[in-house]
Amino acid sequence: MDTNTTMPAIRVIAMPKDANADGDMFGGWIISMMDLAASMPAKKLAKKRLVTVAMDQITFHKPVFVGDCLECYATIEKVGRTSITVKVETFVERKLSMDKEKVTEGSFVMVAIGADRKPIPVAG
Ligand SMILES: CC(C)(COP(=O)(O)OP(=O)(O)OC[C@H]1O[C@@H](n2cnc3c(N)ncnc32)[C@H](O)[C@@H]1OP(=O)(O)O)[C@@H](O)C(=O)NCCC(=O)NCCS
Repeated sequence: MDTNTTMPAIRVIAMPKDANADGDMFGGWIISMMDLAASMPAKKLAKKRLVTVAMDQITFHKPVFVGDCLECYATIEKVGRTSITVKVETFVERKLSMDKEKVTEGSFVMVAIGADRKPIPVAG
């Protein structure tokens, strides 16, 4: 992922309300940002209601701290009949140094659903 030439799907400052008492961001908050980021290219492609059915290979490489700027980059990996798999790589710009580091990655499987909440084809 070339973060100099690719736009992140989401860019957000890590705030204290989503951190533990030591100032480390909760993994669940980071995953929720990644899930939101995954939905962006998937929604653009499907133009349908989507739900997340699975998250795979979520890896926390480095911690995220309060004040870091979190950037989630989302790339469509696979388009199935009713599902879209999106790879998300997350980087931070550290609060004071502005150094950029990759902190997490994972794949998110989103399924297109109809009004009855049953899977529907992504295309068409
Ligand atoms: C998503 C949901 C509609 C799928 O229903 P289902 O009857 O299990 O669907 P299917 O078995 O027909 O699978 C639908 C697609 O999802 C894929 N899929 C299902 N389970 C999967 C899993 N564990 N991992 C990866 N892909 C999976 C299937 O391969 C299929 O993809 P394809 O059509 O592209 O081949 C249903 O499980 C659901 O409503 N789950 C809750 C979703 C939710 O609330 N998410 C959190 C909030 S967004």
